[in-house]
Amino acid sequence: MSSTSRILDPVFRSKIMSAAEAAALIPAGANVGMSGFTGAGYPKAVPLALAQRIEAAHGRGEPFRIGVWTGASTAPELDGALAKVDGLEMRLPYQSDPTCRKQINAGTMEYLDIHLSHVAQFVWFGFLGHLDVAVVEVAAILEDGRLVPTNSVGNNKTWLDQADKVILEVNSWANLDLEGMHDIYYGTRLPPHRMPVPLLAPGDRIGEPYYRCDPSKVVAVVETDAPDRNTAFTAPDETSRRIAGHILEFFSHEIRKGRLPAGLLPLQSGVGNVANAVMAGLEDGPFDNLAAYTEVLQDGMLQLVRSGKMTLASATAVSLSPEAAVTFNRDAAALKKNVVLRPQEISNHPEVIRRLGIIAMNGMIEADIYGNVNSTHINGSSIMNGIGGSGDFARNAYLSIFMTPSTAKGGSISCIVPMVCHVDHTEHDVQVIVTEQGLADLRGLSPKQRAKVVIENCAHPDYRPALSEYFRLALDRSPGRHTPHLLDEAFRFLPEWKARAAGGR
Ligand code: COA
Repeated sequence: MSSTSRILDPVFRSKIMSAAEAAALIPAGANVGMSGFTGAGYPKAVPLALAQRIEAAHGRGEPFRIGVWTGASTAPELDGALAKVDGLEMRLPYQSDPTCRKQINAGTMEYLDIHLSHVAQFVWFGFLGHLDVAVVEVAAILEDGRLVPTNSVGNNKTWLDQADKVILEVNSWANLDLEGMHDIYYGTRLPPHRMPVPLLAPGDRIGEPYYRCDPSKVVAVVETDAPDRNTAFTAPDETSRRIAGHILEFFSHEIRKGRLPAGLLPLQSGVGNVANAVMAGLEDGPFDNLAAYTEVLQDGMLQLVRSGKMTLASATAVSLSPEAAVTFNRDAAALKKNVVLRPQEISNHPEVIRRLGIIAMNGMIEADIYGNVNSTHINGSSIMNGIGGSGDFARNAYLSIFMTPSTAKGGSISCIVPMVCHVDHTEHDVQVIVTEQGLADLRGLSPKQRAKVVIENCAHPDYRPALSEYFRLALDRSPGRHTPHLLDEAFRFLPEWKARAAGGR
């Protein structure tokens, strides 16, 4: 079926044009809100055409850069293409593209890394400046102009409401059975007129299945037929399986203690292979009637839905391997009974996360002995990806779990350190730290008590003596004894401390 038969409103139909013609309507210096979240639902044609236009302008010696706002990370056809032609002046709120990362860390691209639940409201508050253009992928345009979303919702509602000009891509690859899977909430208000978000269970539908869009703002409709480009997952390795094993054992312990119900509480699971391994572990575990209230629906979670272990999954986007993306699209009619996709301001809403009692599980780069977590920076100054939704969930979850292998780069770096070189999640928002070595339950512990548990349970044996030695000397020499630190030594941990502790063994 071609896209044209999916564009039922005659006003929108009259705006059909090529991607190049649509890209020509985006001026240099514009702030552009694009759809897209973890490789799902991003526009497939206009960003590529815009990249060509920018390259041509640069060839003529004309400056041409834009600001790009999205839901989260996208794909090579968007972030990669625009970064390669040096077309990005400012990027927000999250990226994971290698070319973008390189330019941000070289200081040639500005990047605003913000909590994903903040983005829409910051735009409505006027904190981020003016939104000039929206470029949003949809599956269809109905007779009355309502739009059927595709595989991610992200901030699309806000882009369509706030932008002066709207460019729509109608992707005929997206299954029309997606209609009805989405729940677009139109009840947000600006303070002081805000009302409670009336969502009491992960599967509640509080909005409508479509985006609304003022037809007078639509300047172009572009037809596409292209799949989402998601990255493949590697099968869980031994390290991921051990991390998952510790978490599942912890869940059983919490059930025995009466602190979790038998079906657990709604799960949030971050991106990556470890998160996928936890989902794979749940597949074989004793827990039934699971639910997810999360940001992205990954392969492992989709498998839980298919097997019936998970009865409901709420997210803002799917983040599936290429194979799973194809089967998700194929089976949309059946899956929409158990899957709801919402705007990210609702999937990541602090009020809802607190109310539902979410179990949050997110990856990290490193944690320190007191429980502060770095999710975003290498050596304190280079960005990896961004904070994403990890802060939205960690601060407000019933249980906030952070996980990482105990070492990185072939064992040459300890992911448990005396003091993290950048803090995304403070000790106040981190309740459980897990590595393949074990799990540190930090609830109810003072900083000094936490340090002992983190070193003993989570540090790699190669680094445990050095960390213990640091802690012992800090206890001895630190000017304060509440959170003992030796500030002139904390960042010299590697390699001096490892060598010193090894020598003393
Ligand atoms: N020091 C230096 N490099 C480190 C490191 C450390 N302590 N820990 C990890 N790394 C490197 C790895 O070597 C790897 O590098 P490579 O890409 O060159 O191989 C890279 O960081 C990613 O690490 P990996 O072990 O593959 O972890 P991951 O894919 O699970 O990602 C995060 C971990 C922290 C980068 C990822 O979870 C993230 O971006 N989190 C923030 C956003 C978030 O939590 N989103 C979910 C919210 S819903």
